[in-house]
Amino acid sequence: MKEIKLFFNEAYLKYGIRQYVTWNPDKAPHICIFGTTGSGKTVASKLLLARTAQCLPDMKLYVNDFKGDSDFSFATKAPRFARYLECEQNFEAFYQRFLKRQSGEDTSRNMLLCFFDEWASYTLSIDKKKSEEEKKKLATLLMMGRSYNLHLILSQQRMDAVYFANGGSRDQLNIVISLSNLSAEGKEMFFHEFKDQIKPDRRQSTGYMITNGTDFTPIQVPFISNMTKIDHYIKEAVTR
Ligand SMILES: Nc1ncnc2c1ncn2[C@@H]1O[C@H](COP(=O)(O)OP(=O)(O)OP(=O)(O)O)[C@@H](O)[C@H]1O
Ligand SMILES: [Mg+2]
Repeated sequence: MKEIKLFFNEAYLKYGIRQYVTWNPDKAPHICIFGTTGSGKTVASKLLLARTAQCLPDMKLYVNDFKGDSDFSFATKAPRFARYLECEQNFEAFYQRFLKRQSGEDTSRNMLLCFFDEWASYTLSIDKKKSEEEKKKLATLLMMGRSYNLHLILSQQRMDAVYFANGGSRDQLNIVISLSNLSAEGKEMFFHEFKDQIKPDRRQSTGYMITNGTDFTPIQVPFISNMTKIDHYIKEAVTR
């Protein structure tokens, strides 16, 4: 599997060198991005989705935009795009693809990628029983998705254990990206071992990335002045 270029490695950027942090979905199947409101999560996620779509022309993308703001308005009519409570059905469709591959009924192995913007708010907005079911599905996908080339990208403001089944599946989030300054809880939860390296100078679109619990890198999301190309790649991937 290819290494997909994501964001700038900030340590090199200050010497004028554009080195990228990359994503290898085989080695680090699932990603979460978190940070306060306005920290740049959705823009960073969109860049990530577009680059993956560009790199893997047969990747099929499921977008769940729970917040339903204007960031994905270009995709509203696409078949694997959902907002607000439609996300339930779209997430179920993704989960069904997993079950079909697992049972052997579906032998295809092209990448299926599910992006969930505000998974946390989603789990809070549905009734408790449903919420537990959804968290279990997520846990299953995080644990077993990789073998069938199913991957998840979650983006949300907070990463508390309560949004995940048994609090355990967070360990399966192989890449953790924080944008803007970390909250005390965020630092404790994911960045405990790297506390000494964390500086309070993070702004919108800058943060830290940890891959498989070891590689700790300061990052900067490139400045996007025109979303047209990004929107085009995403739209193609939720439609094809
Ligand atoms: N990399 C970037 N390049 C250009 N503009 C950016 C970038 N990141 C963020 N912005 C600007 O900041 C705004 C807020 O970013 P974004 O919507 O990604 O934040 P967020 O973390 O998703 O916030 P929320 O939690 O409220 O959804 C964007 O609408 C955009 O105008
Ligand atoms: Mg957002």
